[in-house]
Amino acid sequence: MDIQRDADLQPFNTFHVPARTFRMAAFSSVEELRALLADPALKDLPRLVLGGGSNVLFTRDWPGVVLRNEVGGIAVLEETAEEVVVRAGAGVVWHELAMHCVGHGWGGLENLSLIPGKVGAAPMQNIGAYGVEIKDTFDHLRALRVSDGEVVRFTAAECRFGYRESFFKREGRDRFIILDVAFRLSKRPTLHTHYGTIQAELDKRGITAPTIQDVSDAVVHIRRSKLPDPAVIGNAGSFFKNPVVSEAEAARIKAEHPGVVAYPGGPGLVKLAAGWLIEQAGWKGFHEVLPAGGFGVHKDQALVLVNHGGATGADIYGLSSRVLASVQEKFGVELEREVNII
Ligand code: FAD
Ligand code: EPU
Repeated sequence: MDIQRDADLQPFNTFHVPARTFRMAAFSSVEELRALLADPALKDLPRLVLGGGSNVLFTRDWPGVVLRNEVGGIAVLEETAEEVVVRAGAGVVWHELAMHCVGHGWGGLENLSLIPGKVGAAPMQNIGAYGVEIKDTFDHLRALRVSDGEVVRFTAAECRFGYRESFFKREGRDRFIILDVAFRLSKRPTLHTHYGTIQAELDKRGITAPTIQDVSDAVVHIRRSKLPDPAVIGNAGSFFKNPVVSEAEAARIKAEHPGVVAYPGGPGLVKLAAGWLIEQAGWKGFHEVLPAGGFGVHKDQALVLVNHGGATGADIYGLSSRVLASVQEKFGVELEREVNII
Protein backbone atom coordinates (compact mmCIF):
# COMPACT_ATOMS: atom_id res chain seq x y z
CA MET A 1 0.00 0.00 0.00
CA ASP A 2 1.16 3.49 -0.80
CA ILE A 3 2.36 5.33 2.30
CA GLN A 4 3.24 8.97 1.66
CA ARG A 5 5.86 10.74 3.75
CA ASP A 6 5.68 14.36 4.85
CA ALA A 7 2.43 14.81 2.94
CA ASP A 8 0.62 18.08 2.31
CA LEU A 9 -2.78 18.37 4.07
CA GLN A 10 -3.82 21.68 2.50
CA PRO A 11 -5.78 19.96 -0.30
CA PHE A 12 -7.49 17.75 2.27
CA ASN A 13 -9.11 20.39 4.48
CA THR A 14 -11.87 22.76 3.37
CA PHE A 15 -10.40 25.66 5.39
CA HIS A 16 -7.43 25.29 2.99
CA VAL A 17 -4.99 26.07 5.79
CA PRO A 18 -1.42 24.82 5.45
CA ALA A 19 -0.46 21.69 7.40
CA ARG A 20 1.64 18.61 6.82
CA THR A 21 1.46 15.08 8.12
CA PHE A 22 4.37 12.76 8.95
CA ARG A 23 2.69 9.89 7.05
CA MET A 24 -0.50 9.54 4.98
CA ALA A 25 -2.28 6.53 3.48
CA ALA A 26 -5.70 5.73 2.05
CA PHE A 27 -7.82 2.60 2.54
CA SER A 28 -10.83 1.37 0.61
CA SER A 29 -11.69 -1.82 2.52
CA VAL A 30 -11.52 -3.18 6.05
CA GLU A 31 -8.68 -5.51 4.98
CA GLU A 32 -6.63 -2.56 3.74
CA LEU A 33 -7.35 -0.68 6.96
CA ARG A 34 -6.27 -3.66 9.09
CA ALA A 35 -3.07 -3.94 7.06
CA LEU A 36 -2.31 -0.24 7.63
CA LEU A 37 -2.98 -0.51 11.36
CA ALA A 38 -0.62 -3.49 11.57
CA ASP A 39 2.11 -1.93 9.42
CA PRO A 40 5.29 -1.70 11.54
CA ALA A 41 6.00 1.76 10.12
CA LEU A 42 2.62 3.09 11.23
CA LYS A 43 1.28 1.06 14.11
CA ASP A 44 2.75 3.14 16.92
CA LEU A 45 1.98 6.53 15.38
CA PRO A 46 -0.94 8.78 16.41
CA ARG A 47 -3.79 8.20 13.94
CA LEU A 48 -6.19 10.68 12.38
CA VAL A 49 -8.99 9.44 10.12
CA LEU A 50 -10.04 11.94 7.49
CA GLY A 51 -13.11 12.00 5.26
CA GLY A 52 -13.64 15.19 3.28
CA GLY A 53 -11.80 17.40 5.81
CA SER A 54 -14.83 19.71 6.01
CA ASN A 55 -15.14 19.77 9.79
CA VAL A 56 -11.52 20.04 10.91
CA LEU A 57 -9.16 22.93 11.59
CA PHE A 58 -5.46 22.09 11.50
CA THR A 59 -3.63 24.37 13.93
CA ARG A 60 -0.41 22.35 13.63
CA ASP A 61 1.25 19.63 11.58
CA TRP A 62 0.06 16.10 12.32
CA PRO A 63 2.87 14.12 13.97
CA GLY A 64 1.47 10.70 13.02
CA VAL A 65 -0.45 9.09 10.20
CA VAL A 66 -3.49 10.47 8.42
CA LEU A 67 -5.73 7.64 7.18
CA ARG A 68 -7.99 8.72 4.33
CA ASN A 69 -11.24 6.81 4.25
CA GLU A 70 -12.15 5.72 0.71
CA VAL A 71 -14.48 2.80 1.49
CA GLY A 72 -17.03 3.02 -1.34
CA GLY A 73 -20.29 1.39 -2.38
CA ILE A 74 -24.02 1.88 -1.87
CA ALA A 75 -26.16 -1.24 -1.38
CA VAL A 76 -29.73 -2.09 -0.42
CA LEU A 77 -29.86 -4.42 2.61
CA GLU A 78 -33.65 -4.77 3.02
CA GLU A 79 -36.61 -3.64 0.97
CA THR A 80 -40.38 -3.75 1.44
CA ALA A 81 -43.24 -1.85 -0.24
CA GLU A 82 -42.90 0.83 2.48
CA GLU A 83 -39.22 1.20 3.17
CA VAL A 84 -35.65 0.39 2.29
CA VAL A 85 -32.50 -0.03 4.35
CA VAL A 86 -29.56 1.35 2.38
CA ARG A 87 -25.93 1.05 3.39
CA ALA A 88 -23.13 3.30 2.16
CA GLY A 89 -19.38 2.97 2.56
CA ALA A 90 -17.78 5.57 4.82
CA GLY A 91 -15.83 6.99 1.89
CA VAL A 92 -18.92 7.78 -0.20
CA VAL A 93 -19.45 11.52 -0.62
CA TRP A 94 -22.46 12.45 1.55
CA HIS A 95 -24.25 14.47 -1.13
CA GLU A 96 -23.88 11.58 -3.60
CA LEU A 97 -25.66 9.28 -1.13
CA ALA A 98 -28.37 11.91 -0.58
CA MET A 99 -28.83 12.28 -4.37
CA HIS A 100 -28.87 8.50 -4.86
CA CYS A 101 -31.67 8.15 -2.30
CA VAL A 102 -33.67 11.13 -3.60
CA GLY A 103 -33.28 9.77 -7.15
CA HIS A 104 -34.74 6.41 -6.10
CA GLY A 105 -37.64 8.06 -4.26
CA TRP A 106 -36.38 6.96 -0.83
CA GLY A 107 -37.25 9.73 1.62
CA GLY A 108 -35.37 10.83 4.73
CA LEU A 109 -32.09 12.40 3.64
CA GLU A 110 -33.43 15.12 1.29
CA ASN A 111 -33.19 17.91 3.90
CA LEU A 112 -29.52 16.96 4.35
CA SER A 113 -28.66 17.53 0.67
CA LEU A 114 -25.38 19.31 -0.09
CA ILE A 115 -23.82 18.89 3.36
CA PRO A 116 -20.11 18.54 2.51
CA GLY A 117 -17.99 15.59 3.56
CA LYS A 118 -18.24 11.83 3.52
CA VAL A 119 -20.68 9.30 4.91
CA GLY A 120 -18.27 8.03 7.60
CA ALA A 121 -18.07 11.37 9.37
CA ALA A 122 -21.84 11.95 9.40
CA PRO A 123 -22.44 9.99 12.63
CA MET A 124 -19.55 11.81 14.36
CA GLN A 125 -21.67 14.90 14.93
CA ASN A 126 -25.07 13.52 13.89
CA ILE A 127 -25.14 15.94 10.95
CA GLY A 128 -28.26 18.00 10.68
CA ALA A 129 -29.94 20.72 8.67
CA TYR A 130 -33.40 22.12 8.02
CA GLY A 131 -35.14 20.30 10.86
CA VAL A 132 -33.64 16.85 10.22
CA GLU A 133 -30.68 14.97 11.70
CA ILE A 134 -29.24 11.63 10.60
CA LYS A 135 -30.45 10.07 13.85
CA ASP A 136 -34.01 10.35 12.42
CA THR A 137 -33.33 7.69 9.74
CA PHE A 138 -30.18 6.02 11.06
CA ASP A 139 -30.41 2.21 11.20
CA HIS A 140 -26.93 1.04 12.22
CA LEU A 141 -23.25 1.47 11.45
CA ARG A 142 -20.22 -0.77 11.44
CA ALA A 143 -16.89 0.39 12.80
CA LEU A 144 -13.50 -1.18 13.25
CA ARG A 145 -12.36 -1.30 16.88
CA VAL A 146 -8.75 -0.17 16.79
CA SER A 147 -7.69 -2.14 19.89
CA ASP A 148 -8.35 -5.58 18.36
CA GLY A 149 -9.31 -5.02 14.70
CA GLU A 150 -12.83 -6.42 15.20
CA VAL A 151 -15.79 -4.98 13.30
CA VAL A 152 -18.48 -3.83 15.76
CA ARG A 153 -22.10 -2.99 14.89
CA PHE A 154 -23.70 0.05 16.59
CA THR A 155 -27.41 0.77 16.91
CA ALA A 156 -28.71 4.35 17.12
CA ALA A 157 -28.99 4.08 20.93
CA GLU A 158 -25.37 2.93 21.13
CA CYS A 159 -24.25 5.91 19.04
CA ARG A 160 -25.78 8.24 21.68
CA PHE A 161 -26.72 10.89 19.17
CA GLY A 162 -27.45 14.43 20.36
CA TYR A 163 -27.36 17.88 18.79
CA ARG A 164 -24.02 17.80 16.90
CA GLU A 165 -22.97 15.02 19.29
CA SER A 166 -22.35 11.28 19.43
CA PHE A 167 -20.41 8.58 21.24
CA PHE A 168 -17.80 8.83 18.43
CA LYS A 169 -17.14 12.50 19.13
CA ARG A 170 -16.60 11.75 22.83
CA GLU A 171 -15.62 8.40 24.42
CA GLY A 172 -15.37 6.60 21.08
CA ARG A 173 -13.00 9.14 19.53
CA ASP A 174 -9.82 7.48 18.21
CA ARG A 175 -11.10 4.06 19.37
CA PHE A 176 -13.35 3.28 16.38
CA ILE A 177 -13.05 3.85 12.64
CA ILE A 178 -16.45 3.97 10.96
CA LEU A 179 -16.59 1.68 7.91
CA ASP A 180 -20.15 2.04 6.68
CA VAL A 181 -23.49 3.50 7.73
CA ALA A 182 -27.04 2.22 7.04
CA PHE A 183 -30.25 4.28 6.89
CA ARG A 184 -33.89 3.17 7.01
CA LEU A 185 -35.66 5.30 4.41
CA SER A 186 -39.30 5.57 3.47
CA LYS A 187 -40.94 5.04 0.11
CA ARG A 188 -43.91 7.05 1.42
CA PRO A 189 -42.02 9.84 3.11
CA THR A 190 -43.31 12.57 5.37
CA LEU A 191 -41.87 15.84 4.14
CA HIS A 192 -40.22 18.32 6.53
CA THR A 193 -40.86 21.72 4.99
CA HIS A 194 -41.61 23.70 8.14
CA TYR A 195 -38.03 24.69 8.94
CA GLY A 196 -36.44 27.90 7.78
CA THR A 197 -37.33 29.10 4.33
CA ILE A 198 -38.07 25.74 2.66
CA GLN A 199 -41.82 26.36 2.43
CA ALA A 200 -41.26 29.91 1.16
CA GLU A 201 -38.87 28.59 -1.49
CA LEU A 202 -41.43 25.96 -2.61
CA ASP A 203 -44.15 28.65 -2.73
CA LYS A 204 -41.89 30.87 -4.82
CA ARG A 205 -41.48 27.98 -7.26
CA GLY A 206 -45.27 27.47 -7.38
CA ILE A 207 -44.95 23.93 -6.01
CA THR A 208 -48.08 22.90 -4.09
CA ALA A 209 -47.55 19.12 -3.85
CA PRO A 210 -43.80 18.80 -3.32
CA THR A 211 -41.80 15.59 -3.82
CA ILE A 212 -38.59 14.75 -1.99
CA GLN A 213 -36.76 15.95 -5.12
CA ASP A 214 -38.47 19.36 -4.77
CA VAL A 215 -37.46 19.58 -1.10
CA SER A 216 -33.89 18.60 -1.95
CA ASP A 217 -33.75 21.21 -4.75
CA ALA A 218 -35.08 23.90 -2.38
CA VAL A 219 -32.52 22.99 0.30
CA VAL A 220 -29.68 23.05 -2.24
CA HIS A 221 -30.81 26.48 -3.46
CA ILE A 222 -31.09 27.92 0.07
CA ARG A 223 -27.72 26.51 1.13
CA ARG A 224 -25.99 27.90 -1.99
CA SER A 225 -27.45 31.33 -1.30
CA LYS A 226 -26.39 31.42 2.37
CA LEU A 227 -23.22 29.41 2.88
CA PRO A 228 -19.85 30.04 1.28
CA ASP A 229 -18.68 27.35 -1.17
CA PRO A 230 -15.47 25.88 0.33
CA ALA A 231 -14.06 25.51 -3.19
CA VAL A 232 -14.09 29.33 -3.38
CA ILE A 233 -13.71 30.51 0.25
CA GLY A 234 -12.13 28.25 2.86
CA ASN A 235 -14.52 27.34 5.69
CA ALA A 236 -15.89 24.42 7.69
CA GLY A 237 -19.54 25.46 7.96
CA SER A 238 -20.76 26.58 11.39
CA PHE A 239 -17.68 27.08 13.53
CA PHE A 240 -19.66 27.01 16.79
CA LYS A 241 -22.73 25.10 17.96
CA ASN A 242 -25.91 27.00 18.71
CA PRO A 243 -25.77 27.25 22.53
CA VAL A 244 -28.48 25.45 24.49
CA VAL A 245 -29.36 27.27 27.73
CA SER A 246 -31.97 26.94 30.49
CA GLU A 247 -35.32 28.72 30.08
CA ALA A 248 -34.35 31.01 32.99
CA GLU A 249 -31.08 31.94 31.30
CA ALA A 250 -32.89 32.56 28.00
CA ALA A 251 -35.41 34.80 29.80
CA ARG A 252 -32.56 36.83 31.33
CA ILE A 253 -30.95 37.32 27.90
CA LYS A 254 -34.30 38.19 26.29
CA ALA A 255 -34.98 40.83 28.96
CA GLU A 256 -31.66 42.50 28.15
CA HIS A 257 -31.71 41.80 24.39
CA PRO A 258 -35.33 41.50 23.19
CA GLY A 259 -34.27 40.65 19.62
CA VAL A 260 -32.48 37.41 20.55
CA VAL A 261 -33.33 34.55 18.16
CA ALA A 262 -34.30 31.44 20.12
CA TYR A 263 -35.93 28.03 19.50
CA PRO A 264 -37.20 25.26 21.80
CA GLY A 265 -34.15 23.20 22.81
CA GLY A 266 -35.74 20.23 24.59
CA PRO A 267 -37.58 20.10 27.94
CA GLY A 268 -36.77 23.24 29.95
CA LEU A 269 -34.14 24.28 27.43
CA VAL A 270 -33.78 26.95 24.76
CA LYS A 271 -31.44 26.93 21.75
CA LEU A 272 -30.06 30.38 20.87
CA ALA A 273 -28.96 31.31 17.35
CA ALA A 274 -25.20 31.71 17.72
CA GLY A 275 -25.13 33.57 14.39
CA TRP A 276 -27.30 36.28 15.92
CA LEU A 277 -25.16 36.52 19.07
CA ILE A 278 -21.97 36.81 16.99
CA GLU A 279 -23.53 39.37 14.65
CA GLN A 280 -24.73 41.48 17.60
CA ALA A 281 -21.24 41.29 19.10
CA GLY A 282 -20.12 43.10 15.94
CA TRP A 283 -18.25 40.34 14.13
CA LYS A 284 -20.30 39.78 10.98
CA GLY A 285 -18.15 40.56 7.94
CA PHE A 286 -15.01 41.08 10.07
CA HIS A 287 -11.96 40.77 7.78
CA GLU A 288 -8.35 40.65 8.93
CA VAL A 289 -6.45 41.47 5.75
CA LEU A 290 -3.32 39.50 4.86
CA PRO A 291 -1.28 39.78 1.60
CA ALA A 292 -2.98 36.66 0.17
CA GLY A 293 -6.50 37.60 1.29
CA GLY A 294 -6.85 37.12 5.03
CA PHE A 295 -9.49 35.60 7.25
CA GLY A 296 -12.60 36.59 9.10
CA VAL A 297 -16.30 36.10 9.74
CA HIS A 298 -18.55 35.46 6.73
CA LYS A 299 -20.48 38.54 5.60
CA ASP A 300 -23.78 36.66 5.19
CA GLN A 301 -23.56 34.11 8.04
CA ALA A 302 -21.77 35.12 11.23
CA LEU A 303 -21.52 31.51 12.44
CA VAL A 304 -19.07 30.70 9.63
CA LEU A 305 -15.40 31.66 9.97
CA VAL A 306 -13.63 31.98 6.65
CA ASN A 307 -10.16 31.85 5.12
CA HIS A 308 -10.01 34.31 2.21
CA GLY A 309 -6.45 33.12 1.56
CA GLY A 310 -3.13 32.89 3.34
CA ALA A 311 -4.49 32.29 6.86
CA THR A 312 -3.11 29.60 9.13
CA GLY A 313 -5.17 27.38 11.41
CA ALA A 314 -3.71 29.33 14.34
CA ASP A 315 -5.02 32.60 12.83
CA ILE A 316 -8.53 31.15 12.58
CA TYR A 317 -8.39 29.52 16.00
CA GLY A 318 -7.23 32.84 17.48
CA LEU A 319 -10.16 34.63 15.83
CA SER A 320 -12.55 32.01 17.23
CA SER A 321 -11.21 32.70 20.73
CA ARG A 322 -11.82 36.43 20.29
CA VAL A 323 -15.39 35.79 19.08
CA LEU A 324 -15.99 33.45 22.01
CA ALA A 325 -14.71 36.00 24.52
CA SER A 326 -16.80 38.85 23.16
CA VAL A 327 -20.04 36.80 23.08
CA GLN A 328 -19.30 35.73 26.65
CA GLU A 329 -18.77 39.33 27.68
CA LYS A 330 -21.84 40.76 25.91
CA PHE A 331 -24.37 38.00 26.62
CA GLY A 332 -22.84 35.85 29.38
CA VAL A 333 -23.14 32.86 27.03
CA GLU A 334 -20.28 30.46 26.38
CA LEU A 335 -20.08 29.25 22.80
CA GLU A 336 -18.68 25.80 22.06
CA ARG A 337 -16.67 25.07 18.93
CA GLU A 338 -18.31 22.60 16.59
CA VAL A 339 -15.30 22.12 14.33
CA ASN A 340 -12.75 19.47 15.35
CA ILE A 341 -9.57 21.32 16.32
CA ILE A 342 -6.40 19.41 15.46
P1 FAD B 1 -13.82 15.31 8.33
O1 FAD B 1 -13.67 16.77 8.44
O2 FAD B 1 -12.86 14.59 7.44
O3 FAD B 1 -13.75 14.67 9.79
C1 FAD B 1 -14.51 15.20 10.85
C2 FAD B 1 -14.22 14.42 12.12
O4 FAD B 1 -14.68 13.08 11.98
C3 FAD B 1 -12.72 14.30 12.42
O5 FAD B 1 -12.56 14.32 13.82
C4 FAD B 1 -12.35 12.94 11.85
O6 FAD B 1 -11.23 12.36 12.50
C5 FAD B 1 -13.62 12.14 12.14
N1 FAD B 1 -13.87 11.08 11.14
C6 FAD B 1 -14.01 11.25 9.80
N2 FAD B 1 -14.29 10.08 9.22
C7 FAD B 1 -14.31 9.15 10.19
C8 FAD B 1 -14.53 7.74 10.22
N3 FAD B 1 -14.79 7.04 9.10
N4 FAD B 1 -14.47 7.09 11.41
C9 FAD B 1 -14.21 7.77 12.55
N5 FAD B 1 -13.99 9.10 12.59
C10 FAD B 1 -14.03 9.78 11.43
N6 FAD B 1 -22.54 19.92 9.24
C11 FAD B 1 -23.84 19.72 9.61
O7 FAD B 1 -24.11 18.92 10.52
N7 FAD B 1 -24.86 20.40 9.03
C12 FAD B 1 -24.65 21.30 8.04
O8 FAD B 1 -25.60 21.89 7.53
C13 FAD B 1 -23.31 21.53 7.61
N8 FAD B 1 -23.05 22.45 6.65
C14 FAD B 1 -21.76 22.65 6.26
C15 FAD B 1 -21.53 23.58 5.23
C16 FAD B 1 -20.24 23.82 4.80
C17 FAD B 1 -20.02 24.83 3.69
C18 FAD B 1 -19.16 23.11 5.35
C19 FAD B 1 -17.76 23.32 4.85
C20 FAD B 1 -19.38 22.19 6.38
C21 FAD B 1 -20.69 21.96 6.85
N9 FAD B 1 -20.97 21.04 7.87
C22 FAD B 1 -22.27 20.81 8.24
C23 FAD B 1 -19.87 20.32 8.54
C24 FAD B 1 -19.42 19.04 7.77
O9 FAD B 1 -19.96 19.03 6.48
C25 FAD B 1 -19.86 17.77 8.50
O10 FAD B 1 -19.37 17.76 9.82
C26 FAD B 1 -19.38 16.51 7.77
O11 FAD B 1 -19.99 15.36 8.34
C27 FAD B 1 -17.88 16.35 7.82
O12 FAD B 1 -17.53 15.28 6.97
P2 FAD B 1 -16.03 15.05 6.52
O13 FAD B 1 -15.98 13.75 5.80
O14 FAD B 1 -15.52 16.22 5.78
O15 FAD B 1 -15.32 14.94 7.93
N1 EPU C 1 -28.69 34.73 12.30
C1 EPU C 1 -28.33 36.05 12.43
N2 EPU C 1 -27.15 36.45 11.87
C2 EPU C 1 -26.34 35.61 11.20
C3 EPU C 1 -26.70 34.26 11.07
C4 EPU C 1 -27.89 33.83 11.64
O1 EPU C 1 -29.04 36.84 13.02
O2 EPU C 1 -25.29 36.07 10.72
C5 EPU C 1 -29.97 34.29 12.89
C6 EPU C 1 -31.13 34.54 11.95
O3 EPU C 1 -32.24 34.93 12.73
C7 EPU C 1 -31.43 33.16 11.39
C8 EPU C 1 -31.03 32.24 12.54
O4 EPU C 1 -29.93 32.90 13.16
O5 EPU C 1 -32.77 33.02 11.05
C9 EPU C 1 -30.63 30.84 12.12
O6 EPU C 1 -29.68 30.92 11.07
P1 EPU C 1 -29.57 29.75 9.98
O7 EPU C 1 -30.91 29.34 9.49
O8 EPU C 1 -28.56 30.17 8.98
O9 EPU C 1 -29.06 28.52 10.81
P2 EPU C 1 -27.93 28.39 11.92
O10 EPU C 1 -28.60 28.13 13.22
O11 EPU C 1 -26.97 29.51 11.85
C10 EPU C 1 -27.82 25.81 11.71
C11 EPU C 1 -26.74 24.77 11.61
C12 EPU C 1 -26.28 24.65 10.17
C13 EPU C 1 -27.46 24.24 9.30
C14 EPU C 1 -28.54 25.31 9.43
C15 EPU C 1 -29.81 24.95 8.67
C16 EPU C 1 -25.60 24.65 13.74
C17 EPU C 1 -24.37 24.98 14.50
N3 EPU C 1 -25.64 25.08 12.47
O12 EPU C 1 -27.21 27.06 11.41
O13 EPU C 1 -25.30 23.62 10.12
O14 EPU C 1 -27.08 24.09 7.95
O15 EPU C 1 -28.88 25.48 10.81
O16 EPU C 1 -30.46 23.93 9.36
O17 EPU C 1 -26.51 24.02 14.27
C18 EPU C 1 -22.94 23.21 10.32
O18 EPU C 1 -23.21 22.50 11.30
O19 EPU C 1 -21.78 23.35 9.87
C19 EPU C 1 -24.03 23.91 9.64
C20 EPU C 1 -23.81 24.74 8.60
